[in-house]
Amino acid sequence: MKMHHFVETQQFDRESLKELFAVASSLEGKREESLKGRILASLFYEPSTRTRLSFESAMLRLGGGVITMESGASSSQSKGETLEDSIKVVSQYADVIVMRHSEVGAATRAAAVSKVPIINAGDGNMGQHPTQALLDLFTIQSELRREDGIHVAFVGNLKYYRSPRSLAYLLGKYKDIKVTFVSAPELRMESDVLDYLRGHGVAVEETEEMGESVKDADVLYQTRIAKEWIKNDADYERLRGRYVITRATADAMKEGAIIIHPLPRVGEISEDVDESPHAVYFKQVAYGLLVRMAILKTIANGG
Ligand code: CP
Repeated sequence: MKMHHFVETQQFDRESLKELFAVASSLEGKREESLKGRILASLFYEPSTRTRLSFESAMLRLGGGVITMESGASSSQSKGETLEDSIKVVSQYADVIVMRHSEVGAATRAAAVSKVPIINAGDGNMGQHPTQALLDLFTIQSELRREDGIHVAFVGNLKYYRSPRSLAYLLGKYKDIKVTFVSAPELRMESDVLDYLRGHGVAVEETEEMGESVKDADVLYQTRIAKEWIKNDADYERLRGRYVITRATADAMKEGAIIIHPLPRVGEISEDVDESPHAVYFKQVAYGLLVRMAILKTIANGG
């Protein structure tokens, strides 16, 4: 594989997104041998179900192999090895590394010393999760069947959540986009994202009320109040449950509008919403597998 790290969504432009999504669409239902002999190393210093397993599944579906580090706790990090030293070693075992880490900027640090491409699978609670954002955007464009003229309402935990941050940077590349950020004051989206969106002609609104945006939005992007990132128990208890999507919420959405969520959910979408025609969050998982296959193929072809 040629070198091409993927650490943040700002690396993409509209044309490269279109190309990536065309590859993703072409891979539906496919098993290939195109990456036969290539090895993916998954290094997850934080828990993951979807990102790790979907990348591993993607590599296997493309004919490649996978080596997995069980968790940061069982790695040489627990003996005091630096991230840089670990990457210098693992990049000699694999052709591409998918990495999740608790520190913002960890993927950039890894990329600086790696012999092989680094894919950022999430860095820190206020960093990025670029492959999640790509699969979110692929879901949105596939379901709505358009790229421009979309209203996305992000709901809940906007401060300590890397996935909405990454998707916001992608939305700024399209025309006639409106973004509503619905949150409690202490979980507002950070100013770097707000400034970026406004600077790219996106209509941005911030509110504490979910009501009106639910009726107008094409996409309701629900988030989890992340217990692991909100250290104060009293704050967590106060914030969780504030913006729950119920069946009544879903029924108030306009025809064709969708509900997405990076998952896991822990109560912020009622289970009876799963049967709503607006619920797309489990279908989103299938879109994600295609996008991650496309990312691996693209990187294998030199980015
Ligand atoms: N959406 C997401 O990143 O899920 P995991 O934490 O299970 O990888």
